[in-house]
Amino acid sequence: MVVGDFPIETDTLVVGAGPGGYVAAIRAAQLGQKVTIVEKATLGGVCLNVGCIPSKALINAGHRYEHALHSEDFGIKVENVTVDFTKVQEFKQGVVNKLTGGVEGLLKGNKVEIARGEAYFVDSETVKVMTETSSQTYKFKNAILATGSRPVEIPTFKYSKRVLDSTGALNLQEIPKKMVVIGGGVIGIELGSAYANFGTEVTFLEAADDILAGFEKQMTALVKKRLKGKAVEIHTKAMAKGVEETETGVKVTFEVGGEEKTVEADYLLVSVGRRPNTDELGLEQVGVEMTDRGLVKIDKQCRTNVSNIYAIGDIVEGPQLAHKASYEGKIAAEAIAGEKAEIDYLGIPAVVFSDPELASVGYTEATAKAEGVAVNAAKFPFAANGRALSLNDTDGFLKLITLKENGVVVGAQIAGPSASDMISELSLAIEAGMTAEDIAMTIHAHPTLGEITMEAAEVAIGSPIHIVK
Ligand code: NAI
Repeated sequence: MVVGDFPIETDTLVVGAGPGGYVAAIRAAQLGQKVTIVEKATLGGVCLNVGCIPSKALINAGHRYEHALHSEDFGIKVENVTVDFTKVQEFKQGVVNKLTGGVEGLLKGNKVEIARGEAYFVDSETVKVMTETSSQTYKFKNAILATGSRPVEIPTFKYSKRVLDSTGALNLQEIPKKMVVIGGGVIGIELGSAYANFGTEVTFLEAADDILAGFEKQMTALVKKRLKGKAVEIHTKAMAKGVEETETGVKVTFEVGGEEKTVEADYLLVSVGRRPNTDELGLEQVGVEMTDRGLVKIDKQCRTNVSNIYAIGDIVEGPQLAHKASYEGKIAAEAIAGEKAEIDYLGIPAVVFSDPELASVGYTEATAKAEGVAVNAAKFPFAANGRALSLNDTDGFLKLITLKENGVVVGAQIAGPSASDMISELSLAIEAGMTAEDIAMTIHAHPTLGEITMEAAEVAIGSPIHIVK
């Protein structure tokens, strides 16, 4: 303890103010706890600052540009469409600032103390919060670890001015003429597509046999079809071998089908996964158990093996999704307050903001089969929906997965416009234990994309109206 460092006592100490941590802090405060949240960078974490939110602003701007260029089918012709990318970046940053400012207001409004600095665990009741010039000790009754993740760095592709991680790719000040993307996962596809929409020639190098692992082939095929309509090349089963960097660009070597190839570009985006931020917290001093991959082991209430320390979000098992972190944050806060809350991941949706959007929740036909769960699948195409036709956006389908024995909804997959919004109705159905009949009997406003969900449910119960049985 440094001179003058008198410990501050708090009930619940949350480490990390991303969508996991700040939500946990607010819920703990609502439940009557004295809460301190520690954050070394800007409030809001990766999601708000350099992830979900800015990427969606960029993706949306790219769509605006594309629509301006290609609205002939609607009878609209726009000439001399140009992009002021500085303005695009300003728009993106404005959205980020509004939201991170909002988080600060919410924390303060809930009387959560914000401690700026880096947290280091001394023992299971003590944390030091350090900045370059100060150190403050906190004594806590319970702690919630919510420190998130950072991009994996491959030794042969060290991040630099031209070799970018997702943060670098989001913050470019110019639209690249050419870009190479290593990793056709969620980040690669979302950011690569955003730049492709601005006119960048994009080459994707994906090691696996398809992009967007975890989504069904019928869904990824639609994304590939759209991408191929742009200046995009997709190499699957492609191993990136190395990069030569110059002042003005990169030359990337890769191997595909036993042949070595090179591609030149202005920038290389490396998006090959994220690793948990659990290595510099002093957790070893507390004896918190971890997996080989550096993930913290938790029980169904997000509690670690150290009974007053909880962990949530990207540092625990499961998909690295902001809404999963927030959900776990609420569970941890409620568990600390002595409530019986427990995690149940079946209703957690996964969304890709690709073209078209993809969304999935619960079981797929394949995961149900793998677990020996007997299910039926009922499909309805966007092309048979009036709203989709009027949007001139009809590629896609909704597949509803129900239990064979009683029609209870246990999953859904959507590819198509607004899939990201439509999936929530299916999450609700799973959470509430609804049957396909419940959805089919729910009046959905006409004409909306939401009717596709109702129609798929009608297919499931054997009485579809807008497709022939
Ligand atoms: P990812 O795990 O989704 O994809 C990484 C891809 O890189 C995989 O397809 C993998 O096969 C490939 N890969 C790995 N090493 C490679 C190599 N040497 N050469 C070529 N390909 C290689 O990881 P990503 O895209 O970095 O995203 C990280 C996390 O962020 C994901 O878990 C995702 O859930 C989350 N995220 C979620 C978003 C959303 O909810 N919309 C948006 C962005 C990220």
